[in-house]
Amino acid sequence: MKNKILLLAICTLLSNHILGQSIVQKRAKSLGIGTNLSYFDNYWNANKTTKIEKHFGDFANWTETNKRKARLTEIANAGMTHVRVPVCFGAWASIKEPYRWDFAENIPMVDSVIAWALQRNLKVLIDLHHTEFDGSIPNAATTKRLVWLWSEIANRYKNLDPEKVFFELRNEPHDIPAETWRLQAQELINTVRKIAPNHTLVVGAEDWNGLDALVKMKPFDDKNIIYTFHFYDPFIFTHQGATWAGDGLSDLRGITFPATGTVTIPEKAVGKWVEKSIKNYVNDGTSEALINRLKKIKQWSVDNKVPIFCGEFGSYNKVSDKDSRCRHAQIIFRTLGSLEIPASWWEWDGGFKMLDNSNTLIPCMKEAIAEYKTK
Ligand code: BGC
Repeated sequence: MKNKILLLAICTLLSNHILGQSIVQKRAKSLGIGTNLSYFDNYWNANKTTKIEKHFGDFANWTETNKRKARLTEIANAGMTHVRVPVCFGAWASIKEPYRWDFAENIPMVDSVIAWALQRNLKVLIDLHHTEFDGSIPNAATTKRLVWLWSEIANRYKNLDPEKVFFELRNEPHDIPAETWRLQAQELINTVRKIAPNHTLVVGAEDWNGLDALVKMKPFDDKNIIYTFHFYDPFIFTHQGATWAGDGLSDLRGITFPATGTVTIPEKAVGKWVEKSIKNYVNDGTSEALINRLKKIKQWSVDNKVPIFCGEFGSYNKVSDKDSRCRHAQIIFRTLGSLEIPASWWEWDGGFKMLDNSNTLIPCMKEAIAEYKTK
């Protein structure tokens, strides 16, 4: 009798394990190709004179929110199957305890974008973005505060269909040791699990959700997690002209994809990692280099039997030439498809967009998306 009970217990455990794994694998695959719809992450657009406790609360409004309706139609028409919605929820809540919403009136804007996306048959990733405000506000991203934020977010969205709505716990944790992030992520997982037991969680590694940090990470003891990474390789190509990524990138010009010719090293880049990257670009700025990197993360996912998701990839359009951007997008879409990795382009509108100035999808970007083919 005892043996039978033990056998039954083992079978139940195993089938839950296998069932759990297949559910999460299926849900990950169903994401396919999508895009980030930035706006609720743009905390830097706050009216700084009215900010309460310096947390940038008033950066969102209904006029801008309503424009996202048309964007979501364009995204669905482009054949995409999900949208990642980065939200700086942290800007709408107090920094100090007891935590409370200071801008509760902004949350229905997010509800609307989620509802419009679902109406267009797009799956939705609700992503907690920029909780640390680029380090400008101390204690904005403590575990306690994030736990509070996630209990509020999970309670608000727990009744949305777990086949269609996913919860991404924290975008690009950085300047945090791997162990500290792991402890924080575990707390967030525990918090959301109690409230939304069936929703799939999306979790990445420290170091800006980097691929190299993820391959060093051990999966969590929860079978309903998709592991995310961001892929901006080769960084000096995807971020040339960017003012926020440091060390001379803002003055960098003329990086093509794939690598051709020589590039002038901006003065601010001399002696910095950017100079080194420019010198290595002949090796790093190739399709093979990108394919090899993506194969590496795929191998990690196979070895650990967990699904992965590329939550951000793209290129800044300020100074890069259009054809290079398209060639870069094309090889990444194609490789992600052949490796069966679901992925989200950064970003539908804004500086990394695939649209021209009249909001029409650039033809060679359309072709690039079509390169994403899974079995
Ligand atoms: C940030 C954006 C930035 C993008 C590319 C995202 O995670 O939120 O502000 O433009 O990465 O650097």
